[in-house]
Amino acid sequence: MQSRVAEIAPDVYRLSTFHSEGGMQFNQFLIKDDEPFLMHTGLKKMFPITLEGVASIIDPSKLRWVGFSHFESDECGALNEWLRVAPHAQAVCSFVGTVVTVNDFADREARALQDGEVLEIGRHRLRFLATPHVPHGWDAGLFFDETDRTLLCSDLFFHPGNPEPLTEADVVGRARESIIAGLTSPLAKDMPYTPYTDSTLRRLADLEPRTLAVMHGSSFHGDGRGAILDLAKIIKETLGKPEAGF
Ligand SMILES: [Fe+2]
Ligand SMILES: [Fe+2]
Repeated sequence: MQSRVAEIAPDVYRLSTFHSEGGMQFNQFLIKDDEPFLMHTGLKKMFPITLEGVASIIDPSKLRWVGFSHFESDECGALNEWLRVAPHAQAVCSFVGTVVTVNDFADREARALQDGEVLEIGRHRLRFLATPHVPHGWDAGLFFDETDRTLLCSDLFFHPGNPEPLTEADVVGRARESIIAGLTSPLAKDMPYTPYTDSTLRRLADLEPRTLAVMHGSSFHGDGRGAILDLAKIIKETLGKPEAGF
């Protein structure tokens, strides 16, 4: 396995590893700036591959921030490996994430971000949004790069396969197919539909992202607001109904 590197927005590098057994990509996003920021650590067992990808862009020991959405192996499983390689690196995630799991799991204390708080890493300003249970997990949150309007959207827009790094084509259609196929898969019920799912997605749409950095599948460049609103509609129509296999 190897990590495929592509710049999907100014200084935002997508490191993509295709997992043939799982039939999906695991994508990490490195923002190269004064204080380099990595979104998702990648799986612990993929760490040497992710490390090689990061090393092709920056000196990995200079990594400053490790962000992620929620506590899962693809999001933060290799956190301690990164903390070892980069002596000044620190995890950043939701307050819930820090107190419920991360500060016990991580070898160095994480920084908790409040909803709406901004992390300045140099040219880029990253706004943190607490998004409980979107895409899933009580601790979930997302980062929005206000500088170039890139939403690091974790598992939202999930689609399988090994597609191109960046597309202007229809990622919503791909995500819709995955949501429908997912209803009957062994991994069903990954996303709960809660009383605040729709309002959370609308809040993300209102950020008007130009680029959607997708963890599994192609990233998207274009009308991010429209794409998120379309996704919200699909999620409501499928996961929001009691008969949707729940
Ligand atoms: Fe996840
Ligand atoms: Fe994921």
